[in-house]
Amino acid sequence: MATIVGAVTSSHVPAIGRALEKGLQQDPYWQPFFAGYPPAQRWIAQAKPDVAVVFYQDHGLNFFLDAMPTFAVGAAAEYRNADEGWGIPTVAPFRGDPALSWHVIETLVADEFDVTTCQRMLVDHALTLPMALLWPGGGAWPVRIVPITMNHVQHPLPSPRRAYRLGQSVGRALASWPGDERIVVLGTGGLSHQLDGRRAGFINKPFDLMCMDALVDEPEKLTRYSALDLVREAGAQGTELMAWIAARAALPGRVRKVHAHYHVPVSNTAAGLMVFEPESAVLARAA
Ligand code: DHB
Ligand code: FE
Repeated sequence: MATIVGAVTSSHVPAIGRALEKGLQQDPYWQPFFAGYPPAQRWIAQAKPDVAVVFYQDHGLNFFLDAMPTFAVGAAAEYRNADEGWGIPTVAPFRGDPALSWHVIETLVADEFDVTTCQRMLVDHALTLPMALLWPGGGAWPVRIVPITMNHVQHPLPSPRRAYRLGQSVGRALASWPGDERIVVLGTGGLSHQLDGRRAGFINKPFDLMCMDALVDEPEKLTRYSALDLVREAGAQGTELMAWIAARAALPGRVRKVHAHYHVPVSNTAAGLMVFEPESAVLARAA
């Protein structure tokens, strides 16, 4: 049986890619942001996952306004990174896990999620930057990935409730996977930010902190918001929070908050990071 080791949720601002390229981790602007990551890196190094299932958003790299899947699941043997316009360096290709991807897809479709299946898929900054933050140092990636994109680009967006149920369904798929892999679930994006329009630069710290708090013990509380509520409270791109909701919902039972970090701003974004562990993992370690 597979082991779900936990979930990590992280922002994915493209400027992080530039900071990594230039080695600016100790720069006064960047230091308070990067300082949040070593505890998450240490937790990952200890948890030793074989696979990362990643809820994130495609920002116009695979899908554009002419063809926009609400949810798409990668089922490729390899995923290459390409530049969707930010000019940050691309990273090494990721190995996929087609068998696990198809098991996730089978479960989602059985649960009435009509997902788009992608046997060819590129991955953008929303996947690569959290990966680079959690597994620093470059070179080949030590985990295979199952990428799951959620539309946050073109309305109508899915609702937080739908994101929660998507995460639960993926959690059921992972719990029923007969392989013996150790699996970590990632959710990327957020927290509050708006890149365009009259509210460009909008950040809502009280709302972000409320969400980070709710995600630990009462994530369902966040499902009472509509997608448009999230736009109002967290900004047009703050709807990326839905990937955090999905990742948290994929964990079985109660969880322990291993680590949390929040720093405002990084570029136009309130940057957040959380690490959750299922209580079952804590009990198994103690036994
Ligand atoms: C920024 C944040 C994002 O989530 C993104 O996808 C692109 C840019 C930013 O704050 O610059
Ligand atoms: Fe984004």
